[in-house]
Amino acid sequence: MPDLDPLALLFAPGRATVPLLLAPMAGVTDWPFRALALTYGADMTVSEMVASQAMIRHAPKSFKIASSGPWNGSESPAVMAVQIAGADPAIMAEAARMNVDRGATMIDINMGCPVKKMAKSHAGAALMRDERLAGRIMAAVVAAVPVPVTVKMRLGWDEGQRNGLALARIAEASGVRAVTVHGRTRAQMYTGQADWRAIGAIKAGVAIPVIGNGDVTTPEEARQLLLVAGVDGIMIGRGALGRPWLFREVAHYLRTGESLPGPEPAERVRVIIDHFDHIIAFHGPEIGNRLARKQLAWHTRGMAGGGRFRESLNHSPDADSTGQLLRTFLGSIINN
Ligand SMILES: Cc1cc2nc3c(=O)[nH]c(=O)nc-3n(C[C@H](O)[C@H](O)[C@H](O)COP(=O)(O)O)c2cc1C
Repeated sequence: MPDLDPLALLFAPGRATVPLLLAPMAGVTDWPFRALALTYGADMTVSEMVASQAMIRHAPKSFKIASSGPWNGSESPAVMAVQIAGADPAIMAEAARMNVDRGATMIDINMGCPVKKMAKSHAGAALMRDERLAGRIMAAVVAAVPVPVTVKMRLGWDEGQRNGLALARIAEASGVRAVTVHGRTRAQMYTGQADWRAIGAIKAGVAIPVIGNGDVTTPEEARQLLLVAGVDGIMIGRGALGRPWLFREVAHYLRTGESLPGPEPAERVRVIIDHFDHIIAFHGPEIGNRLARKQLAWHTRGMAGGGRFRESLNHSPDADSTGQLLRTFLGSIINN
């Protein structure tokens, strides 16, 4: 059992602003990206989802996805939340226990993933169509681990089945400590606009903290989500891709009502190089080189000559060559 309850820290009364969280994003929010978000003021991050079946089979990739690195002089960040996905209560409970044994200080249950493969096995957002099973999973995971358990969900399966409030109440009754609501239905996937009012209706119907999520890409939008939904925290996903300083900007704006200027070119260059080096160190040169491509593509969006640079990345055979291409490209940005 950790010394400090991470959720109590996150929602401590007297905070200057609501907590800001980095959304879990499969294939994106590995430890190097999560560390970058923490550097820029995210209060908490969540791992990419880990398939519970793979975890209990000790698949090495699951361990990598769920792991963090040293942070602020400790072996890992104080809040180390791992998201698990699956549809079998016993397997989900076992996966949760394994993660806690490996240092997780919070477990998040995925009830929002819309992809077909997940739906077929009744996992992710499909759990929202089966409230009984969802309730059994939540109760099993809560009973299995001594750390806080949270749930991330959508508004419901489709327009006809917007049962987010019912599910949030089941979560509360099961001992789940907070829920994150992405303001779309499963049927919407990522289309349309996140419905912040509907998140507010769920917030109004439960006593546990509700974190609002969906389409926050600027400080002004974060404030609007707070005003419309009255949520206890804000989770940001795609808006932070290549823009990890968004957390710093949102926190400053919520605290003061003023906009911070964006980072200077020198800071951007330093961030990108450090991020690349961290990816290679964490994943090793082979996997790291592949994973770095998309992160570098996000980082260089909108930069002069960025298109040509990204094209050259696709032909870069190894991490050393990518590192050289990157340094040359960024050098030209600084010197112009
Ligand atoms: C590439 C990608 C991967 C995602 N993977 C996950 C995941 O593993 N678990 C999860 O709960 N949500 C996942 N999501 C959903 C996000 O956490 C978030 O709910 C969604 O992107 C809406 O927030 P945003 O508009 O701030 O991006 C993913 C989204 C994207 C774009």
